[in-house]
Amino acid sequence: MKTAPASLRAAKAAGRRLATLTAYDYPTARLLDECGLDLLLVGDSLGMVVLGHPDTTQVTMDDMIHHTRAVARGVTKTLVAADLPAGSCRTPSLAVENSRKLREAGADLVKIEGGSECLPAIEAILADGIPLIGHLGMLPQRVVEEGGYHIKGKSTAEAERLVSDAIAIDQAGASAIVLELVHAPLAAEISKKTSCPTIGIGSGKECDGGILVLHDLIGLFPWFRPKFAQPRADVATTIQRAVREYSREIQSPAG
Ligand code: KIV
Repeated sequence: MKTAPASLRAAKAAGRRLATLTAYDYPTARLLDECGLDLLLVGDSLGMVVLGHPDTTQVTMDDMIHHTRAVARGVTKTLVAADLPAGSCRTPSLAVENSRKLREAGADLVKIEGGSECLPAIEAILADGIPLIGHLGMLPQRVVEEGGYHIKGKSTAEAERLVSDAIAIDQAGASAIVLELVHAPLAAEISKKTSCPTIGIGSGKECDGGILVLHDLIGLFPWFRPKFAQPRADVATTIQRAVREYSREIQSPAG
């Protein structure tokens, strides 16, 4: 049976940490659905690891709907969250309209990048009855303005802003908050100050759970791997070995 989004907050209350990963297609979602994860995220990271864009900024609502539908078809147990892509939350009413589309595509929750500047959109989505995950710290949708992927929250001003954004999103009723590249001691502090779980990526070990891009975990995107991601498999090499063997057998049957 499918778990409910409320299970995320309940896990933190019970002191249970959350294991989550991204997924972008039906077979992967179906495989991961059997692995006891708490949540699958159809991340807009699909722009890079599936569609070949340099970053997530070009991902569209149509891309997200297409991949969310595929993931939702593969899952019977695990919660599915889908990213609201860049530009999809320019106004609170647009944010609600796009969140509804992701829900119709099969997402149990939506994820939105940004802090207090996004609070009107966050509140509107939650008021519409759509469970939501926040995303603070490094915001990949703003990577171009920010000139790269950098650790957030080392300065006092940035740290204070992140704490107050996290508290505001928590109090608005978010089911969880992703903390991406947040200075580890600050991520630990935010995790203590919020009652919704924090899900860390490159933010140290003291968040209430973790997330990785699946391709980084299984070695399926060898051209770029963030420093914090330790691969547990080398699927890229496995694919190439199988295909080279197949191709050799067909092209030189005698040899
Ligand atoms: O797009 C994504 O995959 C994400 C996770 C890395 C948190 O936002």
